[in-house]
Amino acid sequence: MAGKFISFEGIDGSGKSTQSALLADALSATGHDVVRTREPGGSPGAEDIRRLLVEGDPGRWSAETEILLFTAARRDHLERLIEPALTEGKLVISDRFADSTRVYQGATRGDLRGMVDDLHARMIGREPDLTLVIDMDPTQALSRGLARDSGEDRFEDFGLSFQQKLRAGFLSLTKDFGTRVHVINGDQSQDRVATDVLEVVKAHMS
Ligand code: TMP
Repeated sequence: MAGKFISFEGIDGSGKSTQSALLADALSATGHDVVRTREPGGSPGAEDIRRLLVEGDPGRWSAETEILLFTAARRDHLERLIEPALTEGKLVISDRFADSTRVYQGATRGDLRGMVDDLHARMIGREPDLTLVIDMDPTQALSRGLARDSGEDRFEDFGLSFQQKLRAGFLSLTKDFGTRVHVINGDQSQDRVATDVLEVVKAHMS
């Protein structure tokens, strides 16, 4: 039996990591075999690539180089963690997947969506079964993201207008991918967001 693949997406500081953890706990509690993971990262090699991407000066890489690095990390993650887990019938929950490359590199860092789609078709070739976009006000999300002082602020350092453009990019995914992508209002209490997420997931699974 093939498993299920769910991704969370959203701008920096939108709370999707918290929400993916809450969803993983809720589904584990009801007997699902859940693997929680993230991008960039999720496998040892992809975690090495992550450090290159999220640390350092914003101008460290061009958007084109970023596409190659994110896709390389994704390919390793897919080969070594996601596909084996799905083959074993597990439920994989990933904090970000290919939609982040479409929005960050394809529509915000540059106008490079064609390049992102070509490389995705050749090297990745699959989408999640369900994607939850946690949508929220970029001003609040950015200050929350920067307040974490995680040392992984390379994309936050592009500033507020970058985050505003990202938000529009994530919202427009529903036009391209219709039924796969669901937008959740992230400007609510953590519990309320988690309830909305669970409702969409349960509807999808039934
Ligand atoms: P995170 O902070 O959600 O773990 O993600 C790391 C950063 O990498 C975040 O600022 C978004 C960015 N990113 C891209 O620009 N393109 C991608 O394909 C992915 C997966 C993440």
